[in-house]
Amino acid sequence: MFQHNGKLIYHKEISPNHMLMVIDAIEIAKNAVMGQFVEVRVSDSYEPLLKRPISIHDTDKKLGTISLLYQVKGKGTKLLSEKREGMYVDILGPLGKGFTLPDYSIQKLLIVGGGIGVAPLLFLSKEVRRQFFNSTMILGYNSKEQILRIDEFKKHSSNLQITTLDGSFGEKGLVTVPLERELAARNYGMLYACGPEVMLKSVAQLAERYEIPCQVSMESLMACGVGACLGCSRKMIVDGKEIYQRVCVEGPVFNSREVVWENV
Ligand SMILES: Cc1cc2nc3c(=O)[nH]c(=O)nc-3n(C[C@H](O)[C@H](O)[C@H](O)COP(=O)(O)OP(=O)(O)OC[C@H]3O[C@@H](n4cnc5c(N)ncnc54)[C@H](O)[C@@H]3O)c2cc1C
Ligand code: FES
Repeated sequence: MFQHNGKLIYHKEISPNHMLMVIDAIEIAKNAVMGQFVEVRVSDSYEPLLKRPISIHDTDKKLGTISLLYQVKGKGTKLLSEKREGMYVDILGPLGKGFTLPDYSIQKLLIVGGGIGVAPLLFLSKEVRRQFFNSTMILGYNSKEQILRIDEFKKHSSNLQITTLDGSFGEKGLVTVPLERELAARNYGMLYACGPEVMLKSVAQLAERYEIPCQVSMESLMACGVGACLGCSRKMIVDGKEIYQRVCVEGPVFNSREVVWENV
């Protein structure tokens, strides 16, 4: 893991309350795996003390930059959103265990995201395309205004489907409707998901029903982000045994079959 005091190359609001940030962080850019995250110090003072975990949205190894896509939610992300281009941001990463790609006997992959949960999926879809897998991507939002970086996602998936809850763009309803349609129609070999936990639980249930391996990226409140405080631990069932795993070290990406969905 690397600590960077990285220069902010780009920082703009790209949809209401959603910021895209590009930071100079060459070591993180070179070493990151899709699905990993960074811990971001949101202000130059020690208030708030805790760093905030944000997924690595994209990397540019040549330029030595990483991108973060985040929602302005509470105090920490509000402070972060006030930083201007040219300023510096203290980040630690890459952290955690990311997504893994299957072997080449598997051709078709399905990627599902909901809301700001789409953030780590651009890096994943880029890598999926770079390694010549075929992917279908289904991204769900509440409404058209909240759709994030659709042109970027389009570049990396031959079959991108959008759903909105209010029907203002794409198919009206939840991502699980086109997801089930795809699972019934085609022979996918791996499913990836990131989004609200209620969505992840439904995706995991569909993966179970269609007997397809599924990797889910989970969230948890994090204090240290590096495995020391145990504050982010989640109950899992591994080899038939109940154990607690740290989302920041053993996750955030888990085999959906191991997750105990007790919060939803
Ligand atoms: C692995 C991971 C990846 C993520 N990736 C993204 C992303 O790409 N984009 C995005 O928008 N969001 C992402 N999130 C969510 C993001 O971290 C939160 O939205 C953000 O921390 C909110 O901070 P805030 O100060 O704005 O909000 P607030 O709601 O004000 O504060 C939430 C923060 O409270 C602190 N906190 C409060 N109680 C506790 C406690 N008991 N233990 C530990 N910490 C506590 C934590 O620092 C927590 O982050 C991710 C979360 C995780 C775990
Ligand atoms: S946040 Fe401290 S162990 Fe995960």
